Amino acid sequence: MEENQAMSETPPVVALAEEVQRAIAAHSTKKEASAILTRSRELGLISDWDLWMGHVTEKPFDFACLVVAVAHILPPGGSIETGVFRGGTSALLIQCATPETFHVAIDPFGLPSQSYGPTHGYELWAPMRTTIARLAALSEHNSVTFCPYVMGAREFIRADLLQHPAPFRIVHLDGEHSNEGVTEELQYFRRKLRGPAVIIIDDHDEHSPGVASALDSPAANGLVPILHRFYLYPTVERPFGFSAWLHPAAS
Ligand SMILES: C[S@@+](CC[C@H](N)C(=O)[O-])C[C@H]1O[C@@H](n2cnc3c(N)ncnc32)[C@H](O)[C@@H]1O
Repeated sequence: MEENQAMSETPPVVALAEEVQRAIAAHSTKKEASAILTRSRELGLISDWDLWMGHVTEKPFDFACLVVAVAHILPPGGSIETGVFRGGTSALLIQCATPETFHVAIDPFGLPSQSYGPTHGYELWAPMRTTIARLAALSEHNSVTFCPYVMGAREFIRADLLQHPAPFRIVHLDGEHSNEGVTEELQYFRRKLRGPAVIIIDDHDEHSPGVASALDSPAANGLVPILHRFYLYPTVERPFGFSAWLHPAAS
């Protein structure tokens, strides 16, 4: 009897992933997701999925449903993001974080650790300043402590800067998409997590093969799939995608 009670208090990781899947599909989740997405856009905090080739897919809405569902199902916590750009995904994460937790946002913008060429505008300082100021104001409003780190994820990891005194329940990897970069991020952030957490992997598609390689490596051992979605753009043959995984609590 006691054993049964203990099992029902700590659901196995697969059951927890299924709970998140059910929550994603709930009408109330969609309503909340729509509201936080609208608020983000009103604040000018835009995802690169909104800006990409002038074609808007369902991806930002699907991402919003996922983070709302996680906030309802997982224990309290904040979030970590590598790759911030114009703040569209950070804004959704901040709105779903538990008050008095942290949102850690890592991006080198125009510093030498920028992994992309100057075709995307990721390196521009004027929009970066605006983004950081808007994210700080949104975090202040939601009682979340916003911690921007203007550096590459590898520098952050080497300096072991994740020392925040509150739990994290979402990690969004959307910075460098190489096999080595994503592997290093998975290893480091997973080692630091204590409770169950959802790891969201952006650009998990044929355009960024390093991402899939990292997910095939031991760095991803024990992750339970929640979703893997794909989105087509009119002028690109192969779809772009993202996936989400449940990381079990440390035993
Ligand atoms: C795809 S965009 C992020 C988009 C954002 N998450 C969204 O959905 O709107 C990629 C970002 O990764 C950042 N980046 C580039 N190199 C990086 C690195 N080494 N570590 C972390 N972020 C990096 C870029 O500056 C850029 O802002």
